[in-house]
Amino acid sequence: MNKNILSGMRPTGPLHIGHLFGALKNWKRLQDEGYNCFYMIADYHALSTEYASTGEIKKYVEEVAMDFIASGLDPQRSTIFVQSMVPEHTELHLIFSMIVPTPWLERNPVYKEQRKQLITKDLNTYGFLGYPVLQAADILIYKAGYVPIGKDQLPHLELTREIAQRFNYLYGETFPVPEALLTETPKIPGTDNRKMSKSYNNCIYLSDTPEVIKEKVSKMFTDPKRIYRKDPGHPKTCPAFIYHRLFNSEGRVGEIERECKGAIIGCTDCKKELGEAVVSYLKDIQDKRRMMEKDRKRLWILLEEGAEKARMVAGETLEEVKIKVGLRYGKKD
Ligand code: TRP
Ligand code: SF4
Repeated sequence: MNKNILSGMRPTGPLHIGHLFGALKNWKRLQDEGYNCFYMIADYHALSTEYASTGEIKKYVEEVAMDFIASGLDPQRSTIFVQSMVPEHTELHLIFSMIVPTPWLERNPVYKEQRKQLITKDLNTYGFLGYPVLQAADILIYKAGYVPIGKDQLPHLELTREIAQRFNYLYGETFPVPEALLTETPKIPGTDNRKMSKSYNNCIYLSDTPEVIKEKVSKMFTDPKRIYRKDPGHPKTCPAFIYHRLFNSEGRVGEIERECKGAIIGCTDCKKELGEAVVSYLKDIQDKRRMMEKDRKRLWILLEEGAEKARMVAGETLEEVKIKVGLRYGKKD
């Protein structure tokens, strides 16, 4: 059975609790179950949209790397690396670009949607159109069988599968056709009950201090129908209650539900307790992160080692690909 897994994240800012519950916990579980995991910080992908303001990329790469490791991804057991430090990805991307028909890229619904949404940036670029081809190279260069992703990434994976099949058809069986690993993950609203997103300024970051977390939680949106302290609350429509479910103990969550509906507990107290629950839940992650923040040199040693491990596998695939494509030069032939 193919137990190689690859997934990645763009370094466009520090990671928040949405990333923790939506991806990182799942990635850690796969690592702990013994899959051969490759977890990538996709800096070239960040460049595809942020090419006009690249000043922060290095800082964000470090933030994401620290967030990965602090959340339990283990550089000893998983291969944690920065995409541009493994140049084989770009070479495979170029080879793939020769065999990918442009209509496959132009019809991609994610591409159409993002171009509409990110109107403040000029995304009529070659790189942006082709970034799903780079994503295919990211996955296939490790011959990954499974790709843990969110539903929004499914069209990209479909393209990866088509590229694998087209390559295999043209040059002979080379790549496994990878499958998505979609895991049910809880949806975490932002503190204002909209989608959690950097641009909405409604995130709780893994790197926030306990004081900042408590402050953000104390200002969270609650049940809009509960105006006075004596009004009964509706936990179902309260974002703070969704957080209680994730961060507080099961028994206590049941009690809060009852106390809220009966107007026994007020929102201020409820959120005070929640702030403490969030801080205590994140304590281990945060302790680990603070340690790493003090030693960037060590962080970069880990990332160099990760890139080296990745290159061993990526280099082998690239060699095989070049031979199959007919670029057989040098001693080998
Ligand atoms: N495109 C992904 C995103 O925006 C990041 C990514 C790049 C990725 N390469 C990947 C995810 C390969 C899974 C597999 O989130
Ligand atoms: Fe939400 Fe808690 Fe207020 Fe109920 S008491 S509405 S769960 S914040």
